[in-house]
Amino acid sequence: MRYSDDLIEEIRLKNDIVDVIGGYVKLQRKGSSHFGLCPFHNEKSPSFSVSPQKQMYYCFGCGAGGNVFTFIMEYENFTFLEALKMLAERAGVELPELEYSKEARAQADKKAQLLQINKEAAKYYYIQLRGKQAQQAMNYLTGRGLSQETIQKFGLGYSDKFGSGLYRYLKEQGYSDGLLHESGLFNADERHGMYDKFWNRVIFPIMDVNNKVIGFGGRVMGDGKPKYLNSPETKIFDKSRNLYGLNMARVSRKRNLIVCEGYMDVISMHQAGFNNAVASLGTALTSLQASLLKRYTDEVLIIYDSDEAGTKAALRAIPLLKGVGLATKVVNLNPYKDPDEFVQNEGNEAFERRLEEAENSFLYEIRISERDYDMHDPQGKTDFLHNAATKLLGFEDEIERNNYIESVARTYHIESGTLTNLVNKLALKGAGITEVRRPKSGIQSNREKESGIEKAQKLMLTWITSYPGIMEQITSYIGPEDFTTGLYHKVAEMIYEQYDQGQINPAKLLNHFVDSEEQKEVTALFNATIPLETDEERKRALTDVICNMKEHSIAYRSSHLDPTDMKGLQDLMRDKKALENWKESGIILHISFD
Ligand code: GTP
Ligand code: MN
Repeated sequence: MRYSDDLIEEIRLKNDIVDVIGGYVKLQRKGSSHFGLCPFHNEKSPSFSVSPQKQMYYCFGCGAGGNVFTFIMEYENFTFLEALKMLAERAGVELPELEYSKEARAQADKKAQLLQINKEAAKYYYIQLRGKQAQQAMNYLTGRGLSQETIQKFGLGYSDKFGSGLYRYLKEQGYSDGLLHESGLFNADERHGMYDKFWNRVIFPIMDVNNKVIGFGGRVMGDGKPKYLNSPETKIFDKSRNLYGLNMARVSRKRNLIVCEGYMDVISMHQAGFNNAVASLGTALTSLQASLLKRYTDEVLIIYDSDEAGTKAALRAIPLLKGVGLATKVVNLNPYKDPDEFVQNEGNEAFERRLEEAENSFLYEIRISERDYDMHDPQGKTDFLHNAATKLLGFEDEIERNNYIESVARTYHIESGTLTNLVNKLALKGAGITEVRRPKSGIQSNREKESGIEKAQKLMLTWITSYPGIMEQITSYIGPEDFTTGLYHKVAEMIYEQYDQGQINPAKLLNHFVDSEEQKEVTALFNATIPLETDEERKRALTDVICNMKEHSIAYRSSHLDPTDMKGLQDLMRDKKALENWKESGIILHISFD
């Protein structure tokens, strides 16, 4: 089930891209485009452009680009559907309900009601914390160094001592016992009936990435046991696929995300300005959480408690994070127990330095493995290095492996050649045993240099979409068949078709490309740099490009021509003649670029 293309297009048209992006980025008009600092990479001078005419954005620095949907997806880290919903709402367009099956609808209703209950509960706890009875709770939080602003930002609350305040509050709103039971916020027994799960605790609402409250953690104020009570898993609360603080961290626009252990750690780091911190929900990190992180970043810093349990947890988390392709580093907190304690004692700058010094997770694993060997004994050290060499075998990429070999050799004072030999020997011995993975090499190198002809075709697409007025004349020289490279050809066909139907509309065309990488590539086609100032210069360049493209397209078509294709042959001859003519007497373009 999906929305119609017409509806999608209507929503796009009703959200002017300059307005929408202007809400996120400060834009300044320069010629026919608006420029600002790119929100997708760090820069000091603006190379991010938004074109009202094309209804597209493009960054000349990092290549980010697309239409208004792409922007919202990339900026907010939304899926297409989420971006569509947001922009529909912004434009006041009502999206029709997608058709669900009966069961699916009932499930969705149930989830919506549970979300509503959690929202009401968060409100209730929030109000309690601000009441007269909650002085102790407020003192506890401020005593732990939290400012009012922070308490507010995380929506912290308090569950009072009476035991059924929340239950009564929600009953008054008409919720059934069955539903309340499913929310996980209540216990029940025969003597007392239903009563609140959280009693005399400070409350941490847990939100999903869309800022919806899906559960709670409640901490005793002081040393009581258990220290934390958490909502049980419910239809809306899956502890393995949510992370505390991710709703804020995902828009922090930092280089990486920080994964720590506790709610208090997250809050205290955010307060200190490290608003890219998240925590798992009282359980060990899961691979689903690793994938979730990967949606938002390429690098994760692990910052777990410096005790034995924290080290174990880090060693378990590293392969999960690497497994989804995240670069992973481990932060050393010594001599403090956790990030909260570190920040409270040493302050932000010292903390920042620790983040910068974070240790590569592979080297961390090797270093921790020292504990299993007697490093002062020659045999112990030998065994240790054999173990390290086995681990080094895991790097498929030769350059990467060599870099790590060098680093380990340096740390443990041995010749890197010796270690390389050991690794190679193990590789030969264990060739049949170690899992053979597909080599990574090649993925990065397929970005070949842009050839001259691609450049010409790209310029042409940029001209046509920037100055649709010239299209009428262009069509008598260049057709979609003259765009010979795969993607260029596909895009050119679409543009020519739009032209035939009355209007060139590059932003609409992007709706056909779902993949954001493809969208970027297509957007780049409409954003070649045209450094020419005067119309005369532009006309000359344009005629050059026309001749270039034609020449290449004739060569390309001759070499791909089916010998029985008479029509193709005639077209070729005609084009050849025309090209000779253009070269001899020049092309006269009666166009203006405005
Ligand atoms: P403080 O000790 O107040 O600084 O809290 P913290 O958030 O730093 O907690 P800690 O490092 O002790 O524990 C990390 C996380 O494990 C907590 O945030 C909870 O999610 C979870 N946790 C800790 N203690 C308990 C407990 O007794 N029961 C449950 N279910 N979870 C706990
Ligand atoms: Mn703590």
